[in-house]
Amino acid sequence: MIHSSTGYAAHDPAKDVSDVMRSRRTVRAFRDQPVARELVEEVLRDAAAAPSGANMQPWRVYVVAGTVKDMLCAAVLAAARGGKGLPPAHLPEPLPEVFRSRMADFGARYYRSLGIERSDVQARAGQTERNYFFFGAPVGLIFSIDRRLKPHSWIDLGLFAQGLMLSAKARGLDTCPQVSFAPFHETISSVLGMPSEEVTVFGMSLGYGDLNAAVNRTEMPRQPPESFARLLGFPT
Ligand SMILES: Cc1cc2nc3c(=O)[nH]c(=O)nc-3n(C[C@H](O)[C@H](O)[C@H](O)COP(=O)(O)O)c2cc1C
Repeated sequence: MIHSSTGYAAHDPAKDVSDVMRSRRTVRAFRDQPVARELVEEVLRDAAAAPSGANMQPWRVYVVAGTVKDMLCAAVLAAARGGKGLPPAHLPEPLPEVFRSRMADFGARYYRSLGIERSDVQARAGQTERNYFFFGAPVGLIFSIDRRLKPHSWIDLGLFAQGLMLSAKARGLDTCPQVSFAPFHETISSVLGMPSEEVTVFGMSLGYGDLNAAVNRTEMPRQPPESFARLLGFPT
């Protein structure tokens, strides 16, 4: 459709937004191409448009590149190899069956795309370590929040991160959100000089994805709305 006053083709914003949301994928192999600082700043400005309870904007993010990123990665790797991370605390034990089976499906797809046998503990550990290098991305992000806040404020941080990933995707960038950094808060906070009230929640890789890498072509299926939503009171 051509817009009558401008002569430009009018975009359907709903389609643009849907396209970006549905084409975002977690990317775990990146090209060397650096990301311009201005682009990072633009993405951060978009992310800050996220809603937050009482507009408290509790998000904090450290964006690292170059030698600072290298220093952080080396420190986290050393902590991981030295057994200095906290035990992963993001999943309950036991994990309810519905989630356990989705997680198993994720693992099967992920390791198949890498050609790693599930029984190959060493290869899986090597792949896990790639998290600590931001999967080779030129930019790494560490998201933190004031530890005195309640879980509701952590929702705000999640909304901020999703906005950031979508803004990045719309600008040709790719991301991988990473809870794997959370156990290394002590190391990360000391490298980055975080104030003592902050706690590391997760990290994220940011860069231009290597779209030829098989690991980046893994489809992660979604449940249909009928399975997670109940629509009540609508005329039939
Ligand atoms: C909060 C959060 C933490 C995650 N942590 C990791 C991680 O540590 N390492 C990793 O490779 N992927 C991680 N992921 C990516 C998920 O595995 C991925 O989002 C999921 O399998 C769905 O795939 P998709 O993002 O490609 O649609 C994380 C995702 C989220 C939202």
